[in-house]
This record gives sequence, C-alpha cells and structure tokens, in this order.
Amino acid sequence: MAFSLEYFSEIVDDAISAIDYPKTAPRLFDPIKYTLQSGGKRLRPVLALAVFSALTHRPAEEAVNQAIAVELFHNFTLLHDDLMDNADLRRGRPTVHRKWGANTAILSGDAMLTLSSMYLAKGAGSHLAKLDESFNQTAMEVYEGQQLDMEFENRDKVSVAEYMEMIRLKTSVLLAGACRLGAIMADAEQATADAFYKYGLALGLAFQMRDDWLDTYGDPAVFGKAIGGDILNRKKTWLLITALNESPEELPAILAEDLDDDEMIRQVRDVYDSLNLGDRCEKLALQYSEDARKCIADLKIDVEALNFFNKLAEEASRRNH
Ligand code: IPE
Ligand code: IPE
Ligand code: MG
Ligand code: MG
Ligand code: MG
Repeated sequence: MAFSLEYFSEIVDDAISAIDYPKTAPRLFDPIKYTLQSGGKRLRPVLALAVFSALTHRPAEEAVNQAIAVELFHNFTLLHDDLMDNADLRRGRPTVHRKWGANTAILSGDAMLTLSSMYLAKGAGSHLAKLDESFNQTAMEVYEGQQLDMEFENRDKVSVAEYMEMIRLKTSVLLAGACRLGAIMADAEQATADAFYKYGLALGLAFQMRDDWLDTYGDPAVFGKAIGGDILNRKKTWLLITALNESPEELPAILAEDLDDDEMIRQVRDVYDSLNLGDRCEKLALQYSEDARKCIADLKIDVEALNFFNKLAEEASRRNH
C-alpha cells in the first residue's frame, strides 16, 4: 500500500460516488451531489483514513464510512457557511445558495448532516458510542466557532487570542476530530489518539491562517473562491486584527468609508502591505505546521506514515487552494 494522498483520496472519491440517494426528492439531493462532485481537497477524510492505516496497517477501506461522515459534515458546514458569509463562489463554481437559493442551502445542508450521522454509524460495530461522543463534541464546537466568527464581524476590537480560539473551534477541531475518528476505529491507545488530535488542532490553525491569507492574497482561479470577501465582511482575521492594532487611525477610517467593493479591498490590502502582514501571516502559519509535526514526532509509526503527516502539515500552510 502506498501511503499517499492520491491513494487515500481515491478511496474517498470512490465511496462518495457510491453514495445512494433516495429518489423521491431530487431537488434535495442534486445540490448535495453538485457539492460533493465539485472536488475539494478531501483533507478531513484523508486524515481519518491515514491515521487508521498508520495505526493498524489494515486496509483503509475499513474506516471509509467514518471518513465519509466527516466529509459530509464538512460539506454541510460549507453550504451554511456560504450563506452566512454571502459567498458567491466555491471550488470555482457558484455556491449552492446562489444557484438554488437560501432555502435549498439550508435544507440540503441539513440532509448532509443527517447523511453524515448515518455514515458514522455504518459498520462502526462496537466503536459506535465512542465515535458518536467524539463526533458530537466536535460538531458542537464547530457551531460555537461559527457563532464567534459571525459575532466578531460586528465587533471593533477582537484580540489575536480570541481569533485563535475562534479558528480552533470553527476549523481545527474538525481536522483533529477526523484524526480521532481514525484512531477510534483503530482501537488506538489514548495517548496515541491524543497525539493525533493535537496534530490535527495545530494543522488546523495553520490551515485556517492560510485560508485567511488566501482570501486576500490568493489567485481566484486557483483558490476557487472570490478574493476579498473577508475584508468586505469585516472578518476578524489575523490580518485585519493586526492591521487594526498597528494602524489604529488609518484602517478604521478606510473601513468607515463608502467605497465600492474592489476599492475597499484594494485600500485595506494596501494597509496590510505597508505593515508587511502577508509575509508575517505566512510565517505564523508555518510555525503552526511545525507545531503539528512536533505533536506526532515521538509516535511509533512507520517512517513512511510519519513523512506523510509531516508533509501534509507543511502543505496546510503553503497551499494555494
Ligand atoms: C474550507 O475548507 C473551509 C475552511 C475551513 C477554510 P477546505 O479548504 O478544506 O475546503 P475544500 O473541501 O477543500 O473545498
Ligand atoms: C471556515 O471558515 C469555517 C467553516 C466552514 C466551518 P471560512 O468562512 O473562512 O471558510 P471559507 O473561506 O468560506 O471556505
Ligand atoms: Mg466562508
Ligand atoms: Mg465563514
Ligand atoms: Mg475563508
């Protein structure tokens, strides 16, 4: 077995293609198929499968239903998130609420959440209670993070510590939770499961900081999402928070102006550039990737697996999409 991204992604993609939808209400399921077939990096299910494989050396397929459960949950959050963030584009295509309307994004999202629970239980055997407990905790934390993300839009002052806690909740815990599901399916010892969980948390911080960086500095053709949405929504990213701290007069004045969208994005980005925030944000993300690597450095897993997890952590803070 090749311990590679391609290997695990293929298992995930095959299982996603094989999802059997009820035939009664195509309008409920078409947006789900549209979302799941539009690509995505499949990072969360890959993490679940990779942890399972690293710990058992058994075929990753044994944990594929639980891996799919995480991907379904992730995609459910995206449908609702795009509505909340008023986003037009995802994975290079119109978002579900733009294509079908808000009600569809809500209801098809809900259906994905339930599908996710169904997959979590499929073939879980004696692991079900633990999987459920882990998954429910993670889901609740994601909602808390999303709530903070929204509230921060309307607050003038948010600290970097508050931002880190918000992204831990909205993003990191799902990556960590994916690792934990793999560890549960593998009957891992608690210390091993905890090490992978912490790895996922640190990787998630790097991943979200890079996402915030990409939202301002990414290439829309590669990123697949519109650039500047975070600025227009006054999202309290590390970039905006630091710029508000270091440019306390100029930036609030710009944000208060009645500029058109492109001009607002340009002027805010100019402030970021004058403070060298792009480079600083990239460096911080890399540090979190480094933290992730440290969390698993002492685990007794094959060097091939360790290299895989290390590379994935670095990629989280260097990715362009
Ligand atoms: C998007 O996640 C939401 C964030 C946590 C930034 P991904 O960047 O993993 O989205 P896909 O699944 O690859 O499209
Ligand atoms: C991602 O935050 C968090 C969740 C989807 C739970 P973002 O709002 O930054 O994600 P994107 O940029 O829309 O993918
Ligand atoms: Mg969003
Ligand atoms: Mg959001
Ligand atoms: Mg984003």
